[in-house]
Amino acid sequence: MPAPRNQRSYESRTRRSRRVFEDASRYFPGGVNSAIQYFSPYPLYVTRGEGSRVWDIDGNEYIDYCLAYGAATAGHRNPEIMRAIKSVADNVGTLLGFPTPSAIGLAKEIVRRFPGVEMLRFTNSGTEATMYAVRLARAVTGRNKIVKVEGAYHGAHDYLLISDKPTRRVLMGSERAPASVPDSAGTPEEVAALTLVVRFNDMDGLERVLRENENEVAAVVMEAVQTNSGLIPPAEGYLKEVRRLTEYYGVLLIIDEVKTGFNAAAGPAYAAYGIVPDLVTMGKVVGGGTPLAAFGGRAEYMEEVTPLGRAVHYGTYNANPLSVAAGYAALTKVHTEKSFRQRAYLSERLAKGLRDIVEDAGITAYIMSYGAMGAIYFGLEEQPRDFREAFRADKAAWHDWWLGMLVRGVIPYAGAWFEEWFVSVAHTEEDVDKYLVAAEEVLKGLARG
Ligand SMILES: Cc1ncc(COP(=O)(O)O)c(C=O)c1O
Repeated sequence: MPAPRNQRSYESRTRRSRRVFEDASRYFPGGVNSAIQYFSPYPLYVTRGEGSRVWDIDGNEYIDYCLAYGAATAGHRNPEIMRAIKSVADNVGTLLGFPTPSAIGLAKEIVRRFPGVEMLRFTNSGTEATMYAVRLARAVTGRNKIVKVEGAYHGAHDYLLISDKPTRRVLMGSERAPASVPDSAGTPEEVAALTLVVRFNDMDGLERVLRENENEVAAVVMEAVQTNSGLIPPAEGYLKEVRRLTEYYGVLLIIDEVKTGFNAAAGPAYAAYGIVPDLVTMGKVVGGGTPLAAFGGRAEYMEEVTPLGRAVHYGTYNANPLSVAAGYAALTKVHTEKSFRQRAYLSERLAKGLRDIVEDAGITAYIMSYGAMGAIYFGLEEQPRDFREAFRADKAAWHDWWLGMLVRGVIPYAGAWFEEWFVSVAHTEEDVDKYLVAAEEVLKGLARG
């Protein structure tokens, strides 16, 4: 189906969203409170969620595969999580300003499920978690530089919002030595220069950067499976080599599990690759869909955090009882090995169905499912190995497909070409089949042009 038709259908079904957008735009830049929520022609304003569904302000129902960018994969209004939150509201209060014993239970569960995490600190967002982990690595090593992977998102702070999504190929620098491109205006050049960039799966590139900056790099920050560039698994032996190199150069390895934790695997994604990081960041699922995240790792490093050590970590809302209760219910009652297996099965079923449709329609697109997540790269025939290869994907086709799916009652993805789909505990085979029926219509339309 040609693009203008999907857009017209979207506009005719979402008239109230447009009106709310106009109103919201007077108060919030772009009418949203996180730039990722904006899409053209205007975002969907959603009023309610239940299980695998959400409803927009026009009353349209959607099967939701965005799931708050992977944070709501317990399903909307999950009964276990709602019960836990109600109990805190009835008996405890939202914020007491003193440490509460309940945080220990969630910490124990995290320590049990994240190899290498002996101690941790809670924060309110993944952005804070990675920011504090970087500060801690600098404090521990006494070094200033950080190495990150091109195309990887770790939150919106200056340390790591570098070469997250360089918008043009010419800005990226050479394959051999990718440039450090600040994604946001307002990032001081001096700060950007401290963040060095490598390509995912490029062992030689990492070796070179660590060698050329010997005794200057505090940490390598990466995901075990790169997200926010679609989904890119590590090449065989890559993560082990990263671990070996970081140890050799005395550099801390920080693995970011904010998105992949409990979505790419039943726990952290790195566990399948036989590596133990020095520090780990986590978020999204660990708070059961409430604002809670954490950074943790080896006790010897975590003891550098104040008041024991010198790396400052504060936060009025850290480990607030509501989020801790929601996270505890999510990890102990919802995100079990068993529920993960079912989610992964559904994600693979979805991927297989999409591959068949794409083949029948004669469309070029590479479809990837990893755990309970998946990605579609329009215009690519093979799995990309890094962001540069992913970047070749056809973004216009993606947008067309996105709108086409929305007007058929499916939120097919988190809302940008480089995001992913997520399958929740509440999704069913029937939900997957509905996705596929809608996808078949849209993709055949796209093939006709
Ligand atoms: C891998 C990764 N790290 C960190 C973050 C930042 O988390 P938050 O949005 O909670 O600040 C995100 C957010 O999507 C993420 O995907």
